[in-house]
Amino acid sequence: MPSKQPPSFGSQAYWNERFAANTDPFEWLEAPNALDPHIVDALDATPTPKPELLHIGCGTSLLSYHLRSHVDAPRQIHNLDYSEVAIEVGKIREQEIYQDPRRDIGEAACMRWDAVDLLDYQSVMRACKRAAYSVIVDKSTCDSIACADDVLVPLPYPLAIRSYEPLDLDAAKTPELIHPLVVMAVNLALVTKPGARWIALSYSKDRFYFLHAAAKDVIPQGAAFPHPGDLWRVVDKREVDEADWQVRNEDRADAVTHRPKVCNVVYTLERTHQPLFVRGEHL
Ligand SMILES: C[S@@+](CC[C@H](N)C(=O)[O-])C[C@H]1O[C@@H](n2cnc3c(N)ncnc32)[C@H](O)[C@@H]1O
Repeated sequence: MPSKQPPSFGSQAYWNERFAANTDPFEWLEAPNALDPHIVDALDATPTPKPELLHIGCGTSLLSYHLRSHVDAPRQIHNLDYSEVAIEVGKIREQEIYQDPRRDIGEAACMRWDAVDLLDYQSVMRACKRAAYSVIVDKSTCDSIACADDVLVPLPYPLAIRSYEPLDLDAAKTPELIHPLVVMAVNLALVTKPGARWIALSYSKDRFYFLHAAAKDVIPQGAAFPHPGDLWRVVDKREVDEADWQVRNEDRADAVTHRPKVCNVVYTLERTHQPLFVRGEHL
């Protein structure tokens, strides 16, 4: 009997096909409001008057629209996904939900949407301003990224912690494979403000192990690649409330079926004050 392969959650083609086959809203792990207390805390903590939120790997989750209730202006929310299909579906759904038959819904009344590969720093830089965002919202995108293949990165990596010297092409080393979540953490560090929070929901109890100072082997020895532990630290980690879980389970139409308790975890990461530079650029 042929063995059934698990879906490739790290593949762009997989996500595009999935969203094209079904454009209905789909929620991974938890409902759109599951992160609310953490987002409210993050917004309360930021000194920025009109903080910008970066919603990474938005997929077709209704969280994008729910986020509007947390901000004054929809433009404060920037939804990203590398699936162009998900981005198109998201934009159209926003028009449908918020349309006003009396007048055109203008750009200012809409959120920002961009097709971006979070593992490609150039793609991130094209869509996002540097040091702009106060909050990153991540509902299981870290899980999907963790399933991707290791990323072959150029070395020295163009994003650097100490980059006063111009990019010396002669010094270029053989590219190295680096864990995808490590690459995403560094790319996101470029576009977040010091002290920004990254709220991540995951099914893994140790999703951000690579941020520990002791996790030295996440970067190949001697590779000119920033250690993500210099850029982010985990400030809070908690299981999604058991009470919430019971309510969700009782609400199910098939509540008679025994379902083992699944504890998802919400991580709060904080951006350190360590600046990140783009090599060869004069800031
Ligand atoms: C597990 S789904 C979560 C979707 C949504 N956040 C939710 O809660 O329903 C992961 C999402 O991350 C997106 N994604 C995966 N890898 C990505 C990458 N390298 N760059 C941008 N988006 C990515 C996928 O297209 C998918 O929409």
